[in-house]
Amino acid sequence: MNSGLQTAFYLISAILFILALGGLSHPETARRGNAYGIVGMLLALVATIFMGDQVHGGGYAWLSGAMIVGAAIGFFLAIKVRMTEMPELVAMLHSFVGMAAVLVGYAGYFGPVDDPAHTLAGAAMIIHETEIYLGVLIGAVTFTGSVIAFGKLRGIITSKPLMLPARHWLNLGLGVACIVLGAQFVGGHHSTAAITALVLMTLIAFVFGVHMVMAIGGADMPVVVSMLNSYSGWAAAATGFMLNNDLLIVTGALVGSSGAILSYIMCRAMNRKFLAVIAGGFGTAGGTVAAASGEQQEYAPAIAGDEVAEMLSNAKEVVIVPGYGMAVAQAQHTVNDITRKLRAKGVTVRFGIHPVAGRMPGHMNVLLAEARVPYDIVLEMDEINEDLPHTDVVLVIGANDIVNPSALDDPHSPIAGMPVLEVWKAGAVVVMKRGKGVGYAGVDNPLFFKDNTRMLYGDAKASVEAILASL
Ligand code: TAP
Repeated sequence: MNSGLQTAFYLISAILFILALGGLSHPETARRGNAYGIVGMLLALVATIFMGDQVHGGGYAWLSGAMIVGAAIGFFLAIKVRMTEMPELVAMLHSFVGMAAVLVGYAGYFGPVDDPAHTLAGAAMIIHETEIYLGVLIGAVTFTGSVIAFGKLRGIITSKPLMLPARHWLNLGLGVACIVLGAQFVGGHHSTAAITALVLMTLIAFVFGVHMVMAIGGADMPVVVSMLNSYSGWAAAATGFMLNNDLLIVTGALVGSSGAILSYIMCRAMNRKFLAVIAGGFGTAGGTVAAASGEQQEYAPAIAGDEVAEMLSNAKEVVIVPGYGMAVAQAQHTVNDITRKLRAKGVTVRFGIHPVAGRMPGHMNVLLAEARVPYDIVLEMDEINEDLPHTDVVLVIGANDIVNPSALDDPHSPIAGMPVLEVWKAGAVVVMKRGKGVGYAGVDNPLFFKDNTRMLYGDAKASVEAILASL
């Protein structure tokens, strides 16, 4: 209808998406960033549906039906999902983007004969078919990779890496097969050989996605989550090329590159090399088996909530280290109340945040921001680590892997080399957890056996409420 107006809307949407990403980079501006994203997406939908020439007559009815069903499912899931299930939901949504790219690729290739794409010839046709091939390839890997990531995050699939013999050769073989099939597909003019190549490549890409994520160990999941985030962006960008939609290309590139930057940040936080994570296999080096060494050593003595309250009241410097368990228990509001009480008594309280604490990037920052903990006392691992030796008490609330000394001391540990919060260097450490459960990486934690550690057993919410009551 009006492609000039559509382009203008797309431009405004693209700017809003960039502002959204900028806003989301800090808790204070995150809400505003989210609002920019919502408005940008609304404009994008209006422009695509009403200002382009792709939707006609009966198409509106189909589209409305699909959008009502999709929006209802999305709305219901978003209301229902708990904060701790968020990473699983995100993994599931990534898989949708991947599958959409596969379906759009097939639809574009086998679409109606009056589709302008079918009249392409020469270089334009080669480019179009390359777009389809790459879109389907990236989409298929993203789809199955995200489904497996969903299973691992939900605990349906073991977080232990799957180590097939000669797995690197298998990956190489699959990669070479995709290149050979690509050469057969591009320029194949809908021949049986070209169609067979497309179908075979799709199957191979599905297998590759499964194998790639199955081979990654538990502690390296943060990198996988951000990597699949990036893949889903590139899959969307490829879909944009296939559909000739500039906004989708821009949006996909934004998601793809921000996901890639996040993967880099996660790799740095875990002290891993990106390629090594993708090649898989971390966590297999015969690290300490959780239960076994737990039996050989004695756990630090248990402590009660009122005793912890006394320790905290007598301290000058307190550092709180939250982890996944605080998210599960939803203890952040009570933690904030404790913080306010202690600060009113003149105790310096700060928070130490590990970049991969919880189950998604920024998980702890989101929870603390929600509970209105002042941002200036929330410090990153690198900032707080050097102050820990001068800290009187560290409260570890439902954290495990991110405070595990074996990451630094035991070269055979599955999490060896990962920087951690060195809480054991403080005067005293109180660890709150329900029992003797391991963390996500499934490794034993010598912190629980140290002399200056005390264990406060129970659900983190109940434990912090007991401390607050005594304070
Ligand atoms: P974890 O190592 O998973 O440890 C959480 C601890 O909390 C467990 O040991 C558990 O012990 C305890 N816990 C669970 N529910 C609790 C409750 N209701 N009350 C009190 N304690 C509770 O968590 P972390 O230290 O935050 O480390 C994060 C891990 O997840 C890392 O290995 C990281 O690589 C991985 N991971 C992170 C991400 C991102 S992007 N952040 C994504 C995927 C995986 P009990 O069972 O004994 O209570």
